[in-house]
Amino acid sequence: MNINKVQNLKNQAISAILEAENENDLERLRVHYLGRKGEITQLIKELPSLDPEARKEAGHLLNDVKRAIEQTLAEAKGDRAAKKVDLEKEWLDVTAPGKKTTLGHLHLITQAIREITDIFEKIGFTRVSHHEVEWDWYAFEGLNMPFNHPARDIWETFFIDNLKNKKYGEGVLTPHTSSGQLREMEHTKPPIRMLNIAKCYRRQSDVSHAPMFYQFEGLVIDKNIAINHLKGTLDYFAKQYFGPDRKTRIRPYHFRFTEPSFEFDVTCIICGGKGCRLCKEGWLELGGSGMVHPLVLKNGGIDPEKYSGFAWGWGVERVFMMKHKIPDIRLLFSGDLKFLNQF
Ligand code: PHE
Repeated sequence: MNINKVQNLKNQAISAILEAENENDLERLRVHYLGRKGEITQLIKELPSLDPEARKEAGHLLNDVKRAIEQTLAEAKGDRAAKKVDLEKEWLDVTAPGKKTTLGHLHLITQAIREITDIFEKIGFTRVSHHEVEWDWYAFEGLNMPFNHPARDIWETFFIDNLKNKKYGEGVLTPHTSSGQLREMEHTKPPIRMLNIAKCYRRQSDVSHAPMFYQFEGLVIDKNIAINHLKGTLDYFAKQYFGPDRKTRIRPYHFRFTEPSFEFDVTCIICGGKGCRLCKEGWLELGGSGMVHPLVLKNGGIDPEKYSGFAWGWGVERVFMMKHKIPDIRLLFSGDLKFLNQF
């Protein structure tokens, strides 16, 4: 048996297998080399006729060749199967319309805070966030609401157990952003144009009240500040936020930390001021405002003989709900996608 011939046969077989295009070709090659009448099979059949020395050598060789061809065949088959799967996986229709990724958005209240901030920054207000956890002094006493004053009841406050300060009294979760008035006066000299937007806390929960909510508090202190400045600033806000057709009015009210005090109203967003089921007489209340009480200026270290100011403190959720006609404040904190996706 010619050893070289056997080696050549092996090389031929392997390169043919590697070049085969499909399963049929592979099967044909298998039969050609390893089938019952295949070339290798024929050679193996010749083995018994060789003398013992040559038989042993040729036997080893043919065995190796047979194994090599079998292995190459098996790998080629596996490859082909793998390639078929890959092609299926990688198939891409470049003409198909794209898939839209779902994007989230900022929380509605964050959006409202940013919008309110933009409106006031345009006329020179500086946005700040004063404390959520406060001393009684800043939330009440310093704002002219002494301990045991019945007006405090309106604020339905959360007091913090075992948190007390000799000078400033008990610790509270601030029930309104007005505590930021004193904080601002302590570290800023007039002129002051503060916009304090922060979380507030009260013991309340119904369709229009949540135990945690946001207020935006404005404070302007300068020489000769008068009610017309208050009216002009808040009218500007109402028109920017609710639309240019809104009319506004101030109505006498009472707060301990402003004198005089007002409720600020805007014409109803549903009926435009004619009167409807929501507003009854055409007006909706935005919130409290007033001229800063001289005692509060004094508590903040500002001379009421030299300076005057005005302030307001309104609910972020409240104005947002009015603008978008949302009936229940709890929807804003529910995380309900059916509701949120409308915005
Ligand atoms: N702090 C008041 C409230 O929470 C609102 C207010 C702020 C009133 C500033 C007058 C001046 O109801």
